[in-house]
Amino acid sequence: MLILAFESSCDETAAAVVEDGRVIRSDAILSQVDVHALYGGVVPEIASRKHVEAIAALADRALAEAGITRQEIDAVAVTYGPGLIGALLVAVNFAKSAALALGKPLIPVHHLRGHIAANYLAFPQLEPPFLSLCISGGNSMIVDVAGYTDMTILGATRDDAAGECFDKIARVLGLPYPGGKPMDDLSQGGDPTKYPLPRAKLEHDLDMSFSGLKTAAVNLIHNAAQKGEPLDLPSLAASVTAAISDELIPRAMEAAHRTGRTVLTAAGGVAANRTIRANLEAACRENGLTLYLPPLSLCGDNGAMIGSQAYYEYLAGTRADSSLNAYANMAI
Ligand code: KG4
Repeated sequence: MLILAFESSCDETAAAVVEDGRVIRSDAILSQVDVHALYGGVVPEIASRKHVEAIAALADRALAEAGITRQEIDAVAVTYGPGLIGALLVAVNFAKSAALALGKPLIPVHHLRGHIAANYLAFPQLEPPFLSLCISGGNSMIVDVAGYTDMTILGATRDDAAGECFDKIARVLGLPYPGGKPMDDLSQGGDPTKYPLPRAKLEHDLDMSFSGLKTAAVNLIHNAAQKGEPLDLPSLAASVTAAISDELIPRAMEAAHRTGRTVLTAAGGVAANRTIRANLEAACRENGLTLYLPPLSLCGDNGAMIGSQAYYEYLAGTRADSSLNAYANMAI
């Protein structure tokens, strides 16, 4: 089954063709990062306009790279939430038109379910049940994936997402947007114990919090600037990364312990972080868990992950029609 999938929930416009949920036939992405970098963050109105400019050409590119015609598609899929509402609406409306014009079924896909499904593209042997640590710019959560379309959130951030925490601290340090990768680069060789930063303790102990950490790091930077004290920037980036890692990994291990799941996957842009990947590997080894880490190319937003999840949604009977709407927030 060939699915043409679209994604426009934030600042990447993407179109892909995926076969039977597992094989990437094409994966066309146009990132708007350069435009938003000027403002230090995503400007929703600009994101929507850029998606409108790009999406039709990306659809043609995805088909051409897959070597198929429009008529050979079996279904059209699209991310319908969560994300920036104006941005989401672009791909939702394009996909609705494409499905209607071609007479193909339309499959709505939850963005985070897509991030989790990125692992199916990289690991043919991976099948539910497993746990997924979803860590992106907008979300941080531990999800129990009991089946391809049967998911429960075991713990989630109460405030900022892990990626947002990286991005906001990076901005105060004057690093380019999005700051996660520059922070990752800067932290290499730094001492992760040099700057003591807070770790959150929450009543529901699988939930996470990053806003206190963000404020503590920002205050530390401002205080040093006011006193004219130099900062050891690699060590500060390493200390921030260690605090974020400590927020995530012990909770993922605890979730595995409580549920008895033996397989853990990671998903989302922050899963590209070298330290977090290494720490996850070490923790899973220690706890006897099998770990699947998606390749860097599948960690960030892409259309292929939407096409993968769409296949399983299709098998489960999920369909939408022309009344499909986009949602800024929605349950997984
Ligand atoms: O999954 P994604 O592309 O978009 C969302 O759905 O949010 O994630 C983007 C986030 C950004 O916050 C970015 O700074 C972060 O992922 N990120 C990283 C790294 N690469 C991207 N964070 C830490 N280390 C990285 N290497």
